Amino acid sequence: MTHFSTVDRGRATDFDNIEDFVASAIFPAFDHPDLTDEQRAANERVVRISREACESAIEKEWRCIFVARGEENQLAGFVIVDETNPESPEIDWLIVGPKYHGTGLAQALMTQALEHIGSTREVHLTVIHYNARAIRFYEKCGFRDAGLAATAHKIPHRLMLRAATVL
Ligand SMILES: CC(C)(COP(=O)(O)OP(=O)(O)OC[C@H]1O[C@@H](n2cnc3c(N)ncnc32)[C@H](O)[C@@H]1OP(=O)(O)O)[C@@H](O)C(=O)NCCC(=O)NCCS
Repeated sequence: MTHFSTVDRGRATDFDNIEDFVASAIFPAFDHPDLTDEQRAANERVVRISREACESAIEKEWRCIFVARGEENQLAGFVIVDETNPESPEIDWLIVGPKYHGTGLAQALMTQALEHIGSTREVHLTVIHYNARAIRFYEKCGFRDAGLAATAHKIPHRLMLRAATVL
């Protein structure tokens, strides 16, 4: 089994090689043979905006980033919670390095993110509609598919919701 650290708040040094990390993790999951050039460009943009996404999650009080680290303290995975709308917290990013897929690291990150949010609010996220592994993972975490998301993404996303457990 590939070992990883306990989940911790992200620090700037975790993201020194963030673009390479994200590129190595999202493909092939984000790829699809039928994508248009514009949709492929949207996937490339995910890599480009990853640094800003992680750095803003350290800086902004309404965002929060948790990481797990692997060998030599290298980034193994991260999750970002966004509470721009406090009534509707979002799992904004969840990216795990390929060698940690299936190890429980994604579950550890999600558990920490959900603990941070608490149990009194519905949690939402969106996921590329053909990312079957991620959808299955989110279902295991208690999210249900709520149909196509009304977002401006170039590639259609599914909306997934996890109900509050304490009302
Ligand atoms: C999405 C992600 C965080 C999930 O973490 P993970 O460690 O791979 O998840 P797990 O292995 O715990 O769970 C995946 C489940 O999908 C299943 N699965 C694998 N490939 C699948 C496929 N092609 N179709 C459907 N289910 C699939 C696995 O068997 C497992 O289910 P099981 O535990 O019932 O057997 C991780 O794969 C990842 O970082 N992927 C790339 C980035 C990404 O897609 N992020 C999500 C963006 S919204």
